[in-house]
Amino acid sequence: MTTWLPDLSKRNGPRYRAIAEALRSDIAEGRLGAGVRLPTHRDLAYRLGVTVGTVTRAYAEAERSGLVAGTVGRGTFVRGDQDVTAGHLAAFPYPAIEAAGFEGDVIELSRNFPASGEEGPVIAKLLAEVAAAPTFSNLLDYQPHAGMAAHRMAGSRWVARAGLHAPAERIVVTGGGQYGISMALGSIAEPGDVILTEALTYPGLTALGRLLKLRVIGVPIDEDGLRPDALEAALRFGRVKALYLVPTLHNPTTRIMSEARRRQIAAIASAHDIVVIEDDAYGFLVSDAPPAIANFAPDQTIHLTSTSKSLAPGLRIGHALVPERLIGGMLATMRATSWMASPVMAEVVSRAIMDGTAERLAQAKRREAAARQEMAHRLLQGVHLETKPTSFHIWLSLPEPWRSQEFAEAARRQGVAISPADAFATTDRSGGRVAVPAAVRISVGGVKSRELLAKGLNILARLAAQRPAPARIVDPYLSIV
Ligand SMILES: Cc1ncc(COP(=O)(O)O)c(C=O)c1O
Repeated sequence: MTTWLPDLSKRNGPRYRAIAEALRSDIAEGRLGAGVRLPTHRDLAYRLGVTVGTVTRAYAEAERSGLVAGTVGRGTFVRGDQDVTAGHLAAFPYPAIEAAGFEGDVIELSRNFPASGEEGPVIAKLLAEVAAAPTFSNLLDYQPHAGMAAHRMAGSRWVARAGLHAPAERIVVTGGGQYGISMALGSIAEPGDVILTEALTYPGLTALGRLLKLRVIGVPIDEDGLRPDALEAALRFGRVKALYLVPTLHNPTTRIMSEARRRQIAAIASAHDIVVIEDDAYGFLVSDAPPAIANFAPDQTIHLTSTSKSLAPGLRIGHALVPERLIGGMLATMRATSWMASPVMAEVVSRAIMDGTAERLAQAKRREAAARQEMAHRLLQGVHLETKPTSFHIWLSLPEPWRSQEFAEAARRQGVAISPADAFATTDRSGGRVAVPAAVRISVGGVKSRELLAKGLNILARLAAQRPAPARIVDPYLSIV
């Protein structure tokens, strides 16, 4: 249980509301992570010098807003899938990210970070070269929405590595993968439209759906990814504008869709004239991945890559390969939202692509991921894992009777943060939640050292071999422990 103590000194108004607001901002800013158990009503009331009723009211308010969940006899927990800001500013359901190295007393296996390789000094050197170049001042100017010609050329080379036909005129330099998805959705869909996706999906998509007031509906998946029959069925209900997919190293399950399945999906999307947003954030990790869906439906598919995972997320640069007919809309969205991706950072990334640095750094990420995956296989023996040899993630199916949120909470109490399946859940057509499997995602990349990863994995292996602690039945109001 956390010893969370909100700072109410600058908050006016009723105390219960001040506590609920402090809770909201501490979750939004990552000070309280998913699965953390909040202090008991009595304890917090004592430490804040307020009545127990005030804390009860504050927690009830936070529960109504979906920030926390109370379980009779077990306490009140921070939820992993909540909107943490008010109204349309529904936030990314992960904790906000603190300065690098923030791990506190928790082994961080929930954050989706690339395994750190050799990028620090290499990118520092490139930055210095860019700053010293005679053309530097150009990079400080406004540039075309799609990016400078040289940056689009470099993007074209990077995207073409995956075997795609990627002419520079169809490349848009984006401010990262998430921004690419925003541009795509912003240009294709209007409030109330439906975006289909895998039943479990990247939470950045669902956050964006909330922001843009879109209906993000999950389509059932199997071992090969999104099911074509289920897609056909979902398309019957109208207002579907796009299908968002992560076909290679799907987040969270790590699945890689077969070529045959990709062809089927491409054919269905073309027949129904819906846009496929193909998110290839992890494609660089798999040297023999099947051809991209954009190969099979080039006029239908916006193919997104990002250098966040292959080079460094702080660069905020990605590349979108966009069908000609959709480029105008994408650029209008770019203009309306950020005018352009940063030319300075695009220059750094372009140099890295053109001189081979980007490929070398990507290889280093693959090697580190492979080493960490091997370690995970050794340490998690006897647990049902789904993963790939160079994935940043592991999808761990839990033995009965564990449930995903319960396991994540228990792991958190033992000092390991992981992501419950709930964090990736979408809704079905009727607005209900899709069924969530008893599984959790372990990120092997985010934690600083392999030693710390090993420690975390050992804790998880031991926990999975145990049974959940039975819930204690106590007075639900005052004695929550
Ligand atoms: C599937 C997927 N797409 C996109 C992103 C966003 O990446 P970026 O940092 O490029 O915005 C992530 C990040 O975790 C991701 O998992």
